[in-house]
Amino acid sequence: MSERSFPDGFLWGSAGSAHQTEGDNSNSDWWGHELTPGTNAAEPSGRACDSYHRFEEDWRLVAGSGQNAVRFSIEWARIEPSPGEFSNAQLDHYREVIGSAQDLGLTTFVTLHHFTNPIWFASQGGWEIDESVETFGRYVAKTCEALGDLLQVVNTINEPQALASAAYMIGYFPPRKADIPLGHRVTANMIKAHGAAVEAVRASTSAKVGIPLSIMDWVAADESAEAKQFRDMVHHTLVGVYLEALHSGKITGLMVPEEEVPEIAGTDDFIGVQYYSKFVVDPTLLTNATDADAATIMRRGAKPDDRVTQMGWVWHPEGMGKVLDEVAGVGLPIYVTENGIGTEDDEERIEYVTLHLEQVHDANGRGADVRGYFYWSYLDNFEWNEGYRPKFGLVAVDRNTFERIPKPSLGWYGGVAKANRLS
Ligand code: GCO
Repeated sequence: MSERSFPDGFLWGSAGSAHQTEGDNSNSDWWGHELTPGTNAAEPSGRACDSYHRFEEDWRLVAGSGQNAVRFSIEWARIEPSPGEFSNAQLDHYREVIGSAQDLGLTTFVTLHHFTNPIWFASQGGWEIDESVETFGRYVAKTCEALGDLLQVVNTINEPQALASAAYMIGYFPPRKADIPLGHRVTANMIKAHGAAVEAVRASTSAKVGIPLSIMDWVAADESAEAKQFRDMVHHTLVGVYLEALHSGKITGLMVPEEEVPEIAGTDDFIGVQYYSKFVVDPTLLTNATDADAATIMRRGAKPDDRVTQMGWVWHPEGMGKVLDEVAGVGLPIYVTENGIGTEDDEERIEYVTLHLEQVHDANGRGADVRGYFYWSYLDNFEWNEGYRPKFGLVAVDRNTFERIPKPSLGWYGGVAKANRLS
């Protein structure tokens, strides 16, 4: 493999999220979901990695390895425990979390929403109601007023597509609805909420702002015209509508009236790309576009001789290049804000990251403007419905003592970061 150098100033980081690492996020809708019998949740998040208290240790491990950036979320359910009431104590806590990372020289990518909602927000209708746009904008405005002097790079809503599909179209994330038209309404509301967040960030901070999008390589089930048409419909709902809105400011092609969001027409500072694998979109699993009882419309693209991760996702590094080429068409800078592998085999982790970084490097050679890469995740953490089984981390966490145990991949990845090249 030839040496691959990355652009000067390239950011090398790793990522995590509040609910998956902090612990005791009991005012969130996920806390109740995890404790409800009969849901898909394997186990409760509980104290997670206790990062609410151990964040400085986490940042020291990230910075000490040679990485120069870190991406994490701050928790809406803690900052606004009830509608319109903002906790100064929690805002002060996150001031410490952000400040301690920056004191170690880490560029901070702060995500304002990472799947979890305050219980009161979920109870009033969550993302289904149009008021969600203003409600989210109020939270962002208050957070920017309190922390704006520290905010360097803001990620507004983590993977809105994953949330819209998992929570509203298929139903394995809370509120566990399987209603495709509703999922389209939620999609439009989250795109508008991203617009409201961009306006709030620009009004009171000098931070760069963008949205971290889950972009898988969506593959047709076969070569038939029907399968390709179905793949294009799913791709538009979960990828195309977002890229179009970030380019033109228009929301089109959903089961809702077309809308304009002029504040995001080509003006975001970057697009976050979160790539893991391919998904084969199989129309036979969906009787029709309005069938609310549809089973999963995606099945993992695994064939008998494919390599798969602990999540059942196929190794498909070439999809990273394909996705970056597509996103480059929007004309905005890109950060890979998530890429990683759930595996017990740390050597395999190094191999997976190497193959995907090669794709990032080569996409830049074809004209993409990728300015950074964040490995998911800095810690083994709570993988949503799968619980603590999948091991994505560069650092293991003892589930009883919360001791951090760095893996060889942490040192390897830090070496790539320090050298700014793959050798
Ligand atoms: C997501 C989330 C992360 C996941 C990670 C591994 O992409 O679903 O952003 O919270 O933990 O992607 O699945």
